[in-house]
Amino acid sequence: MTQEEIKQEIRRLARERNALLLAHNYQRDEIQELADITGDSLALSMEAARTDREVIVFCGVHFMAESAAILGPDKIVLLPRPDAGCPMADMVTPEGLREMKARYPGAPVVTYVNSTAAVKAESDICCTSSNAVNVVNSLEADEVLLVPDRNLGRYIADRTDKTCHLWEGYCPTHDRLSVEDVQRALEEHPDALFMAHPECPPPILELAHHICSTSGMYEFARQNPAAKFIVGTEMGILYRLRKESPDKEFILPTSKLICPNMKLTSLEDVLKSLQTMSPEITVPADVRERAKLTLDRMLAVPRD
Ligand code: 13P
Ligand code: SF4
Repeated sequence: MTQEEIKQEIRRLARERNALLLAHNYQRDEIQELADITGDSLALSMEAARTDREVIVFCGVHFMAESAAILGPDKIVLLPRPDAGCPMADMVTPEGLREMKARYPGAPVVTYVNSTAAVKAESDICCTSSNAVNVVNSLEADEVLLVPDRNLGRYIADRTDKTCHLWEGYCPTHDRLSVEDVQRALEEHPDALFMAHPECPPPILELAHHICSTSGMYEFARQNPAAKFIVGTEMGILYRLRKESPDKEFILPTSKLICPNMKLTSLEDVLKSLQTMSPEITVPADVRERAKLTLDRMLAVPRD
């Protein structure tokens, strides 16, 4: 089959199965092009919960499909590549988190959505890269535990009066971006603005003109009059940035900004998943109920 025939067959099968195709902003271009909806991790899970389609094909990584299954328990959630994990999410286990909680009794656990369902179930409230500071400031406690991303944790700690205890996890993709990479790009493009994801290490964030989630970058690029942007996040974001702002230039400071897990899903995988209605992602009921509370508490925090 040609790539075009595969796409047509995916669209036909998706209609037949009453399926919604979701793709994260870091997915391959052809997957983003095919998807019904593209977005950041939280927005996609909320779409999964909101839709009246029976089947969700989640082109992303495992924790995202889990979040969709937690928020939409009546849906069939398919993850075309079950081996698409997130190394950062796997850097904290429920046992490890319980040990940390024992060291800081009473301090609420704020867990980034990039985490497993089992870790969410051990936490008090979730956050995303776009609402993290709001979520932390919404809590009454003076002391909080921030899990699992130390870089997002440091970013939050610098913007709140609360005492923050950080888990030492990190995203290997964002961690590969070096200060030298960004400084070189800024020297080569002195008229460009540098936008960075809060998963980048603190010295990188210090160089940023704007720090935001992946979806925040589309908005910033659309609304800011600048013509050139240096992009401090995974390269998959370039597809929609260039599509939405064709008159602007987007520069990746290094080709190292590629998440191998996000790039696993191919058109063939999506087709196979719809044909076989597998692999399905489910979350055991007890974990699901506790993890849902953690996500629901976040969703109840007012937005700016
Ligand atoms: P957002 O799309 O929520 O900003 O997350 C970035 C990321 O690393 C997802 O894995
Ligand atoms: Fe995980 Fe980083 Fe890949 Fe996102 S980009 S899925 S945080 S490893």
